[in-house]
Amino acid sequence: MALAKAIVSSRTLAKSLPLLSHLPKLSDAPPYSARTLGVIRAFSALVSPPAKAVVYEQHGPPDSVTRVIELPPVLVKENDVCIRMLAAPINPSDINSIEGVYPVRPQVPAVGGREGVGKVHLVGTAVKDLSPGDWVIPSPLSFGTWQTYIVKDQSVWQKIDNDSPMEYAATISINPPTALRMLEDFTSLEPGDSIVQNGATSMVGRCVIQIAKSRGIRSINIIRDRAGSDEAKDTLKKLGAEEVFTESQLEVKNVKSLLGDLEEPALGLNCVGGNAASLVMKFLRQGGTMVTYGGMSKKPITVSTSSFIFKDLALRGFWLHKWMSSNDVGESRRMIDHLLGLVRGGKLKYEMELVPFSDFHIALDKSLGKLGSHPKQVLKF
Ligand SMILES: NC(=O)c1ccc[n+]([C@@H]2O[C@H](COP(=O)([O-])OP(=O)(O)OC[C@H]3O[C@@H](n4cnc5c(N)ncnc54)[C@H](OP(=O)(O)O)[C@@H]3O)[C@@H](O)[C@H]2O)c1
Repeated sequence: MALAKAIVSSRTLAKSLPLLSHLPKLSDAPPYSARTLGVIRAFSALVSPPAKAVVYEQHGPPDSVTRVIELPPVLVKENDVCIRMLAAPINPSDINSIEGVYPVRPQVPAVGGREGVGKVHLVGTAVKDLSPGDWVIPSPLSFGTWQTYIVKDQSVWQKIDNDSPMEYAATISINPPTALRMLEDFTSLEPGDSIVQNGATSMVGRCVIQIAKSRGIRSINIIRDRAGSDEAKDTLKKLGAEEVFTESQLEVKNVKSLLGDLEEPALGLNCVGGNAASLVMKFLRQGGTMVTYGGMSKKPITVSTSSFIFKDLALRGFWLHKWMSSNDVGESRRMIDHLLGLVRGGKLKYEMELVPFSDFHIALDKSLGKLGSHPKQVLKF
């Protein structure tokens, strides 16, 4: 109970909530005047339902520090919107936040999650642009999406088309924009050019393949050796990958001999580190750039001296949070609308597994890699 209280106070629960217990229940009410009833209705209408939430009181291994609890109602202030969450994914950055190793994270105790989609449940008295039933996503990203009801200021919410597939709407704000930005912001790519990436089975990797393909850019993809890697290769090729190699296939003296008619890539994307990052660099052309945006293997990147001297490689980094902080929120929202348009047009697809919220801990174990490789886990509330 103490935990729920702490989280609720961090959710700005109204100090006046105890007043609720002093309000008479309408069913046993004596004949109140219409005005009094109006006040009672208006007051009770501006309180969220209780929420079920995944919370953690301290940082640590996500499977041991998280639990699902019920949080009491929250007052909906005049500029607030109360959202009934529909779906939210478990992303690597959510795991890192709970572990306490992600640079931007909420103070504990906290509710997990950073993106998702919900439906407006009720709005504060000053809210004009959102109405009950609208679909919204937190944009800019906002902590605490792993709960059934969220109350936050109207400025947090971006209204989206509610004919977007729910699981795509829930996952459109982090990984697809990362893929798009990395293809646009580092090198100038023309149709016929190629790029190379590792971690190609990830959601970001799949988006990179499809966005590149739609622009005539050919992708060389590296995946790890694991059960099901042949099926994964076929899936990525169907999405538009030009070549897909497992790391072990690239244990050759000269990886470029595998390029065939593909141009040497000017851009490489790395979300794995270790050997998988070295392989990306081996493919790059003279003066090429490798952008690192993740570290799934938790292994460092090692760069040969010759890569700098003879190939003059550039090593860069990308962090969506920084991009969003340095760009206007309108630009970010337009990018999300554009990406949702690609989804609705069937031009952006990725695998997901919708999981009932009651199975949160199974979904978490899958996301932690404890049960082998699984598609992105998306909680359905
Ligand atoms: N910098 C940014 O702003 C930013 C934004 C978005 C995402 N990211 C990063 O991008 C990466 C991908 O995120 P996502 O949400 O797209 O991933 P995801 O869909 O959850 O997929 C996870 C990916 O990581 C691979 N993987 C898992 N454990 C691994 C290991 N020990 N060694 C090598 N590969 C491993 C998986 O390969 P299998 O298919 O073989 O299991 C899969 O490709 C993450 O590192 C994430 O933090 C960064």
